Amino acid sequence: MDVDSLRNKLSSLGQEHLLDYWQELSEEQRQFLYDDIEGTNIPEIIEFYQNATKNVKNATRKVDEKMEPVPPELLGSVTRSGKKLKDWYNQGLKEISKGHVGVLLMAGGQGTRLGVNSPKGMYNVGLPSQKTLYQLQAEKIFRVQQLSEAYAGELGTVPWYIMTSEYTKEQTKEFFKKHDFFGLKEENIVFFEQNMIPCLTFDGKIILDQKWKISRAPDGNGGLYRALGKHGILDDMERRGVKYVHVYGVDNILVTMADPSFVGFCVSKNAECGAKVCEKSHPTEQVGVVCRVDGQFQVVEYSEITLKTAERRSEDGRLTFNAGSICNHFFSVQFLGDVVRKHEPFLGHHIAKKKIPFIDDNGTRHTPEKPNGIKMEKFVFDVFTFTKDFVVFEVLREDEFSPLKNSLKAEKDNPITSRHSVLSLHHRWVLNAGGKFVDRDGTPIPAIPSWNSPVNLSRRENDTESYPVVCEVSPLVSYAGEGLEKYCNGKTFTPPVLIDKAFVDKEEKADD
Ligand code: UTP
Repeated sequence: MDVDSLRNKLSSLGQEHLLDYWQELSEEQRQFLYDDIEGTNIPEIIEFYQNATKNVKNATRKVDEKMEPVPPELLGSVTRSGKKLKDWYNQGLKEISKGHVGVLLMAGGQGTRLGVNSPKGMYNVGLPSQKTLYQLQAEKIFRVQQLSEAYAGELGTVPWYIMTSEYTKEQTKEFFKKHDFFGLKEENIVFFEQNMIPCLTFDGKIILDQKWKISRAPDGNGGLYRALGKHGILDDMERRGVKYVHVYGVDNILVTMADPSFVGFCVSKNAECGAKVCEKSHPTEQVGVVCRVDGQFQVVEYSEITLKTAERRSEDGRLTFNAGSICNHFFSVQFLGDVVRKHEPFLGHHIAKKKIPFIDDNGTRHTPEKPNGIKMEKFVFDVFTFTKDFVVFEVLREDEFSPLKNSLKAEKDNPITSRHSVLSLHHRWVLNAGGKFVDRDGTPIPAIPSWNSPVNLSRRENDTESYPVVCEVSPLVSYAGEGLEKYCNGKTFTPPVLIDKAFVDKEEKADD
């Protein structure tokens, strides 16, 4: 260990404080810190910081005047595209059956707002089945493969690429192993790890997490592109013959992975890149909108536009900028290849002000109450600017988007809202399939149940947090509400209802 030369190097970069506690460290800790610093490209980190802070300064000018909505010819919609939807759905199933479609889960986030010690995907929101997010997703892959085989007569594998980070890697892998990969083949699940970069103070000094260790955080979900190249994931996709990838975040409990309609729509439009969106619920909803800025596709954050622009309405009365981004994207593998090989270095970092544990001048470690530093993150959607072949697919929020972001301290996007979203969707599926619900005493439950009706109040006594009609359908039985008629039509159910494989087997035996 040449500490003097390291000290000189750090000093020239304004980071000499990293060795402040050198004298106090054990031999082992010294070696750790030495390797930690030597293994970090500090000039590159400083450059990231300088560029990111420059971008923040430039961003103080609102982008309003330059924004245009996505042109209608690039839009598909589950509510407004009529008969074309069925064609897109079938086309998607065909692509899946040919093995052309992969799914990529971004699961490297720290989930700080949810505040649990394990990866978010391991979270159980308290559905009757007690399934975790990872299990629900695995079963959706299983089912969509089955659906495509039934339609196209050929079983295509949907490989599952799972991006983890130092925070989520080990626990995620162990969890999958412990659960036998949830019935999927191990060789079709590919884990890879994103990069971690140092956290900085507001004035650009690298923070020490311990006297002997640099504080690090994952480099944002846009760290995906660097990781794809570094770990040979693109090669794996090409080797398997995957042409299209559906990329999504771990926390949307309603995610429909490899969604045949979305995939079919994007493929039919020859798009390299597509975004699934939900209509913004109100002008000030804190969600980024997909639009064009200076002719380039982009997600503009709610904080970057004025209220006047956010409130603008088109002739049909809808918000002009209504395409709310839901972290749900389509990419052709060819485009991903271009991004990894050509564009990735040009993706800038965004600055997130965070509470970062640190070692103070006296050598004491603190966990701050207020943001004290920054994490630098790339965003997955920043690559939209690199394509002209871009499309947008609008889906219904109540059917497809309910993210688990917060703990129960927050009112929305928490474990209860996630659970309710699933129960509400599955309740509607059963109604649409011809089922009816009655209370324990036989009183019919209205299709739109009221939280305050006596029926529901009595049910809520035992479970104050449940949706009025507790009804869950296993993804192994139905992926998006299909195929339920034979088990539901003309039938009466008394909640709680769980329509899973055991239920289906029993029904089929009874029919024999
Ligand atoms: P969020 O930005 O909501 O972050 O991630 P988060 O880590 O889940 O939660 P907070 O902000 O710490 O509370 C959106 C999606 O991007 C993934 C997350 O796992 C989630 O699926 N992500 C985020 C990554 O894969 N890597 C990252 O570095 C950041």
